[in-house]
Amino acid sequence: MKVLVTGGTGYIGSHTVVELLESGHEVVIVDNFSNSDSSVLDKISMITDKEFTFYEGDVCDKKFLEDVFSKEKINAVIHFAGYKAVGESVEKPLMYYQNNLGSTLALLEVMEANNVYNFVFSSSATVYGKPSTLPIKEDFPLSATNPYGYTKLMIEQILKDLSKSNDKWNIVLLRYFNPIGAHESGLIGEQPNGIPNNIMPYIMRVATGQYDKVHVFGNDYDTKDGTGVRDYIHVVDLANGHIKAIEYLIENGGLSIFNLGTGNGYSVLELIENVKKVNNVEVPYVIEDRRPGDIAACYADPSLANEKLGWKAERGIEEMCKDAYNFASKK
Ligand code: WQD
Repeated sequence: MKVLVTGGTGYIGSHTVVELLESGHEVVIVDNFSNSDSSVLDKISMITDKEFTFYEGDVCDKKFLEDVFSKEKINAVIHFAGYKAVGESVEKPLMYYQNNLGSTLALLEVMEANNVYNFVFSSSATVYGKPSTLPIKEDFPLSATNPYGYTKLMIEQILKDLSKSNDKWNIVLLRYFNPIGAHESGLIGEQPNGIPNNIMPYIMRVATGQYDKVHVFGNDYDTKDGTGVRDYIHVVDLANGHIKAIEYLIENGGLSIFNLGTGNGYSVLELIENVKKVNNVEVPYVIEDRRPGDIAACYADPSLANEKLGWKAERGIEEMCKDAYNFASKK
């Protein structure tokens, strides 16, 4: 199939493009490089030795999208493009609502005008807010605590309403837990602009000597060692979940929701220890106050994706830590 990937030069987008190409799909990438750069295109070519098409532009721009759809016979769309920094969303809510909602609405309208109804959306476990029990299932209550999380929640609602309005839509919402790691080649990986908000890219900058220590946000949570517990999932496993989702939605209409997580929770200190052990590097850290808005623990029940998509995360925490460092130390 010919799959349009918005945000296809980003962290998860680029890894999904690689897996789509290696699975025999044709790929069209649209990206405006707002949180990535054009060198990723060459890296995708180096990894896959496959052809793909790229259009530079903003997914909020309907004329740009109409031009792409007029030139390409798109069969399905995977929508990654969007801003995703929790802290930035609190400072700049209008920018987040305009970009994340605006791009999605523009894309869905152009898809409908071109009779393209197969859509996979990049959602997030952040829509579960503060879960009352663990592991988290897809039917858990939903809430948000920041504008970024609200954009994910609102887009999910838009898609649910769209699905109810027209049974031609085949939609899959994928709720990611905490993606980390990199392609085994070390050519693509997570490279946020500026100071990383997320723990793993921050740990990598300490491990490679760019920063002197990790600031651990709180060790007084009700968890195994007091630090935050999260369901870290290898980005390549996450990418493969999208391949399965595309195959699933062709066979199954309507709207489906799946957690993409491993079902295992690791604390911040356990993550640091794994990075040190696997890569034989030092990762100094200091315990600080909790980060406002953080929850103690979050990990998935991935059984629905296992059952319906035939998908399961295959890579463990050690491989995630090895691949993350392999990428970070090459840059
Ligand atoms: C993980 C753990 C922190 C940084 C966020 C978004 C989510 C998704 C993934 C986009 C927590 C601790 C972190 C640091 C630390 N993003 N930490 N020092 O907050 O679980 O999820 O990123 O889709 O939507 O909410 O990820 O990596 O920021 O934090 O101690 O410098 O690491 O307290 O326990 P989070 P994270």
